[in-house]
Amino acid sequence: MHRAKLEIAAKELLKNDPTGHDIYHSMRVYNLAKEIAKKEDWQFDDDILFAIAMLHDAGHERSIRTGDKYRYKHMEYSAEIAKRVLAEVGFPGQKIPVVLQGILQHDQTKPWGLANRIPTDIKEILLIQDADNLEAIGILGWYEF
Ligand SMILES: [Fe+2]
Ligand SMILES: [Fe+2]
Repeated sequence: MHRAKLEIAAKELLKNDPTGHDIYHSMRVYNLAKEIAKKEDWQFDDDILFAIAMLHDAGHERSIRTGDKYRYKHMEYSAEIAKRVLAEVGFPGQKIPVVLQGILQHDQTKPWGLANRIPTDIKEILLIQDADNLEAIGILGWYEF
């Protein structure tokens, strides 16, 4: 099943993350997103929501390693990593484009992401943006390197 394989792959990718964006951040984002969906009474595709949550921050480690201090490129790197991993775990091909879009857009409702904002009405993306914003209120939003 692609979902179990995806979780294992995400754990592996995030295990050396030096920024606090570990698998527990991904899990919290997924659970918060589901909670918001329940309260809003929104329907969503759980495969898509789970995949965006698991992989949206997989690019932080590469950002740090390559001198992208403020990690502006982590969305782009996460999407590149996700493209490879989703194919490897047999994730449904027709759902991959929206997962990649969600990864690329996950910071666009944060104060530093508004300038590049592309409005969306895709529920899975809106849910991840809001869930990740809740996470950014805490220590992950203020980590300095
Ligand atoms: Fe992020
Ligand atoms: Fe995040």
